[in-house]
Amino acid sequence: MFARVARRYDLLNRVLSLGQDQRWRRFLRQAVAQAPAGPVLDLATGTGDVALGAFQRPVVGVDFCLEMLALARRKPGRPVPWRYWVAGDVQALPFAEGLFAAVTVAFGWRNFPDPVQAFGTVGRVLKKGGRLAILEFHPVQRQPWRTLHRLWQRWVIQPVGSWVSGDPQAYRYLPETSNHFLTPEALERAAALAGFSLLGRRYLGLQVACLSVFVKKG
Ligand SMILES: C[S@@+](CC[C@H](N)C(=O)[O-])C[C@H]1O[C@@H](n2cnc3c(N)ncnc32)[C@H](O)[C@@H]1O
Repeated sequence: MFARVARRYDLLNRVLSLGQDQRWRRFLRQAVAQAPAGPVLDLATGTGDVALGAFQRPVVGVDFCLEMLALARRKPGRPVPWRYWVAGDVQALPFAEGLFAAVTVAFGWRNFPDPVQAFGTVGRVLKKGGRLAILEFHPVQRQPWRTLHRLWQRWVIQPVGSWVSGDPQAYRYLPETSNHFLTPEALERAAALAGFSLLGRRYLGLQVACLSVFVKKG
């Protein structure tokens, strides 16, 4: 599915977030700026919009969709000490234990086959004291934002996404996954089971998205 929508993915992000998505990714990068020294892993990197931004450290972008990675490799990025693109699955990350000082994930966690277990696999490659920042769509809980969000999904995201990408199934699936994903509080509980503690949480875009920042306990 990600391969099918890859070519129009960036355009749809800009349009469907009303131009907010890159600003949210900037907050995500800033959230790991205080991590210990070392490289950052941008997991589910997609077309690289997080990994290509301004990090003061080396960056590795990982995704299991080669079509997405191919687009990321062709895009210009901000200078960093070094940047690698790696094809890989969150369930079997091909890295040594404790290699990374920070992990960022934008709009990827809810697509993982087991979002609870993913904390364990990510925790393995993160060093103690390292930061994990997750930017994600969650079910919108409070009114009137919940009703507004459902209307936006039904009358904007689904028809515009289907039309522009040519893939109606993908743009039905993507909003549905956010409605059925963990709440930010449940995500925090899952993270705690794997040895992470919450540093902070920030709601974005009328509660449509949430940035959760964790530290791996020492
Ligand atoms: C909605 S896109 C987000 C892309 C990017 N992070 C962004 O900010 O736009 C989700 C990405 O997660 C990737 N993905 C989903 N499941 C994955 C997995 N199990 N392992 C690695 N990547 C995965 C998909 O290929 C896709 O590129």
